[in-house]
Amino acid sequence: MSLDGKTAVITGGASGIGLAIAQEFAAAGARVVVADIVEDRAVTAAARISADGGTAVGLPVDVSDRTAVEALFARTEAELGPVDILVNNAGISIDRGVRRITDDEWHKTIGINQTGVFLCSQAAATSMIPRKTGRIINIASRAWLGWFGQLAYSTSKGGVVSATRSLAIELAKYGITVNCLAPGLIDTPLLRNEPAEVLERLLQAQPTGTLGAPEDVAWAARFFAEPDARTITGQVLYVCGGKSLYARPAGQR
Ligand SMILES: NC(=O)c1ccc[n+]([C@@H]2O[C@H](COP(=O)([O-])OP(=O)(O)OC[C@H]3O[C@@H](n4cnc5c(N)ncnc54)[C@H](O)[C@@H]3O)[C@@H](O)[C@H]2O)c1
Repeated sequence: MSLDGKTAVITGGASGIGLAIAQEFAAAGARVVVADIVEDRAVTAAARISADGGTAVGLPVDVSDRTAVEALFARTEAELGPVDILVNNAGISIDRGVRRITDDEWHKTIGINQTGVFLCSQAAATSMIPRKTGRIINIASRAWLGWFGQLAYSTSKGGVVSATRSLAIELAKYGITVNCLAPGLIDTPLLRNEPAEVLERLLQAQPTGTLGAPEDVAWAARFFAEPDARTITGQVLYVCGGKSLYARPAGQR
């Protein structure tokens, strides 16, 4: 199997896109750490993967907290070996326009979505550099291009795209690739938290008119994780049903 013998850490791995990536990587032979702020869900998800024949452990982490991140990577190394693949997937979405978003909401969004990528990538790179191999895959969002009422979220994801590019340049000489996925509307609890009318408007502006599945993103993440992808770095791959190309005016097909 293509990811045999690799240790993969997936942040936010207990739900939605992260869970699908953890399952996909485990099915490809990786030893998987499901890392999530909700520890019991991480443990349950890892148990599900193990029951399906994979190797997985569930560990707690708050990606915005340096101490917690360092503890995650120390436990990963102790329990499954040093990290070969990091997927920076943990994220939150607080949708508010410029006049309504509060300082707390802004800092929380940047802290998890952007600083979390920095802290986890730093810990992973420190372990990968001496071994001269590694994969870092960041989950940004099509929203980094900008969207109504998503000031903090799109700003945080724009930072993820920039971090991907700078890390790719810095880490290339160590055999470490850094790439980024930009999903569009994917059917997960995060999206289902949106009010029904917001979801309906989002769908109407989607060229395909349909939601993507977490498995669609997982498959793309595996592409970047594969050993044969060694020359692909610093890229943004959209998994968005065409929404990065244009936004269809609501109601028009
Ligand atoms: N669903 C979509 O349509 C969509 C679109 C574009 C991008 N994304 C991105 O994909 C990623 C996954 O989103 P999802 O839709 O699967 O969401 P989700 O809410 O289903 O899962 C997110 C997971 O992250 C965990 N998490 C939240 N804060 C954390 C923290 N501080 N530390 C560790 N874990 C934390 C949550 O507990 C949860 O398990 C996010 O980065 C999101 O921005 C999602």
